[in-house]
Amino acid sequence: PRFWLIVPAAGIGQRMQAECPKQYLKIDRRFILDITLSRTLDSAPFDGCMVALHPDDRWWPDTEASGDSRVQTCHGGSARADSVLAALRALAPQVDADDWVLVHDAARPCIHRDDLTRLITSLQNHDVGGLLASPVADTLKKGNNDTPPQVRETVDRSSLWRALTPQMFRYAKLLNALELAAENARPVTDESSAMEFSGNMPVLVEGRPDNIKVTVPADLALAGFILSQF
Ligand code: CTP
Ligand code: MG
Repeated sequence: PRFWLIVPAAGIGQRMQAECPKQYLKIDRRFILDITLSRTLDSAPFDGCMVALHPDDRWWPDTEASGDSRVQTCHGGSARADSVLAALRALAPQVDADDWVLVHDAARPCIHRDDLTRLITSLQNHDVGGLLASPVADTLKKGNNDTPPQVRETVDRSSLWRALTPQMFRYAKLLNALELAAENARPVTDESSAMEFSGNMPVLVEGRPDNIKVTVPADLALAGFILSQF
């Protein structure tokens, strides 16, 4: 089987409150999207890459990646899962059912080569796939609906993980799972949730907790610091 990279980059970055979508903010004078794509594509032997862009995107032509022959683009949809589905469909003419697809958020520029390698080597003989994830470090409380909320209980965190990306699944299984989730109007915020809904058990591969998703303004400086450490 071959390896394909899908990068959903069609979000508008509402929580970031910036003047442009967060994947086009710069760290050390490079677009976050360029950092994400180059770090990912240069770390594993991908056969191709599909980036899902917003239909009104006007920044892509200014990226380094737009001139990279390994990279193709398609239009994303209104939710992340729609963007991933659009990218899977755009890849259809080029892929086989059991090829691997790695889906990685445009907004996770701190992806480390070792994590990508470990994900691939851990899963390449599996028939479904799995995801990078990091054990939960904080003590977790379940609250009630009072104002202010009060603690109902402390949740046992020993088997809880934070889902990260990349998430790596067989092409046809992922396509079917995302289509099934869409037909059933299931809210899926990652590929694993769609795979779970269709009856699969994705493998958790422990990844670095510093593979953060740039989400709120403070994350920009944090990502810059993390990148300066490798
Ligand atoms: N994404 C996408 N298509 C969408 C929504 C999100 O391709 N319709 C992408 C984003 O560009 C991002 C990744 O999915 O790389 C993770 O989503 P998130 O962090 O939620 O990004 P945004 O949706 O852009 O941010 P926000 O939720 O704050 O608006
Ligand atoms: Mg979002």
